[in-house]
Amino acid sequence: MQRFDGKRVIVTGAGSGFGLAIATRFAEEGGRVMLSDINEDSLGQALETLRAGGADVAASPCNVAEEAQIEALVAATVEAFGGVDVLVNNAGYSHFQKLMWKIEVEDFDAVFAVNVRGVFLGCKHVIPVMIEGGGGAIINIASVGAIAPRPGVTPYNATKGAVLTMTKGLALEVARHNIRVCAVNPVAADTGFMKGAMGVDSLDEEATQRLVQTIPRGRLTEPKDVAAAVTFLASEDGDFLTGTAINVDGGRSV
Ligand SMILES: NC(=O)c1ccc[n+]([C@@H]2O[C@H](COP(=O)([O-])OP(=O)(O)OC[C@H]3O[C@@H](n4cnc5c(N)ncnc54)[C@H](O)[C@@H]3O)[C@@H](O)[C@H]2O)c1
Repeated sequence: MQRFDGKRVIVTGAGSGFGLAIATRFAEEGGRVMLSDINEDSLGQALETLRAGGADVAASPCNVAEEAQIEALVAATVEAFGGVDVLVNNAGYSHFQKLMWKIEVEDFDAVFAVNVRGVFLGCKHVIPVMIEGGGGAIINIASVGAIAPRPGVTPYNATKGAVLTMTKGLALEVARHNIRVCAVNPVAADTGFMKGAMGVDSLDEEATQRLVQTIPRGRLTEPKDVAAAVTFLASEDGDFLTGTAINVDGGRSV
């Protein structure tokens, strides 16, 4: 018996980074996983890799900022698996690093559309399905930047603050439906996300060291750290946890 035997899981942004590690971990532990991403190439690769390893997975592309696409993703999951037990709102990105007063309105709006509206839409469309199915768990990927922001990514960090507030408020709204809502706050990781935020392909040694010096555990987040926290929160062991966030940050926010 595995922790997620037969559980139906949606992971957004599952084509790379944290999302791929989260989807992989659920699948390894018996989950039936609907992979989703705006990037159809990485989504297709993730599907192929996980299926080759024997995982029970399907894929449906989706831009989380678009309501019709989220609706279609939830419908595709119900069609494929018969319901949804877990939603991981992981898709997200950052505008390029800039001081706040130099950020264009379009970039501000775009980051809120994906990181905040995307989480709102995921919850909006999955909750009626979870209520009908008798319950579920929603795990939102926020950021330690929401509680201990660094300069240069202020609107991005504000989106993650909004995610934490939605996590708490929504947890209260759905508790009586046996639905839990939690969040995970990772610290910096060398994923594709960094490419967007810092305008680089991968963190160089100097940039890595600058970040590592601010993290008491002395290293960056690995995708598996986030996958471990997400699956714990979504599992039976997390049954009494709702409206709460785990800081997966090596002590950075202490
Ligand atoms: N990497 C970090 O340092 C870090 C730290 C804290 C929080 N986070 C958060 O973790 C989450 C995952 O990021 P990651 O680090 O794995 O980066 P990543 O770039 O590897 O993964 C993000 C995934 O989301 C997808 N995506 C982007 N916009 C989308 C949209 N509109 N609709 C659907 N999919 C979309 C991308 O295609 C990508 O596959 C994000 O919410 C990010 O804000 C990242």
